[in-house]
Amino acid sequence: MTIEDISAVMVIEKTAFPIPWPEQAYRHEILDNPNGYFIVARLRPAGAHANEIKEGASPRNLFQRLAGRVASAPAPRAIIGFAGLWMFVDEGHVSTIASHTEWRGQGVGELLLVTLLREAQRRKAIFATLEVRVNNAVAQNLYRKYGFTEVGRRKRYYQDNGEDALIMTVENFRQPAYHMQLDALEKALWKRLEIMEIGD
Ligand SMILES: CC(C)(COP(=O)(O)OP(=O)(O)OC[C@H]1O[C@@H](n2cnc3c(N)ncnc32)[C@H](O)[C@@H]1OP(=O)(O)O)[C@@H](O)C(=O)NCCC(=O)NCCS
Repeated sequence: MTIEDISAVMVIEKTAFPIPWPEQAYRHEILDNPNGYFIVARLRPAGAHANEIKEGASPRNLFQRLAGRVASAPAPRAIIGFAGLWMFVDEGHVSTIASHTEWRGQGVGELLLVTLLREAQRRKAIFATLEVRVNNAVAQNLYRKYGFTEVGRRKRYYQDNGEDALIMTVENFRQPAYHMQLDALEKALWKRLEIMEIGD
């Protein structure tokens, strides 16, 4: 994520969260926080293939769909999701994640999450953590798929409606079994993204 991306990020932020972060928070993350890692998912330029982009080792420029599949034709390279990681010493904390409403259920959230987890591994995290609303079943499903389990609860954590937060962690984050699980999930995800490209 760059400063230039923030206006597009804010459009998604405001639809995704009942208590949106202010623009200034993203500025701070990008400019001042060496322990933060903030990323965006973009539409892939027409003609580019998932594999070529993966081999380019960039988490950017990932999706290309027929314009007719979404309500309004998106600009090439439009931002369709974003996510952030904070490193607290040996803990990789997923601080935010959201995909554009028109692109949900197509692997964007999964790709963002796996990219954060890979970065946390690269930065030598021993475990991964996050908080999620008790009623946010969709996000919890995504996290459970990636090995997060519930380890606690923060009572009335969210100020808008007094909802509790579940605390979820991946405890075996550094163990070979989890690396293998992540490899398998990532492989399946890329396969899915390639399949979805048919019709371009
Ligand atoms: C949570 C969120 C990021 C998921 O993004 P997405 O792009 O729709 O997710 P994906 O398409 O990558 O789906 C990944 C997994 O999420 C879960 N999921 C996605 N949509 C779901 C749905 N409608 N119902 C149940 N589970 C769902 C599934 O486990 C899915 O894996 P599967 O396809 O193997 O079943 C997205 O719903 C969002 O932006 N929500 C608003 C913001 C938010 O709540 N962020 C989390 C804060 S803690």
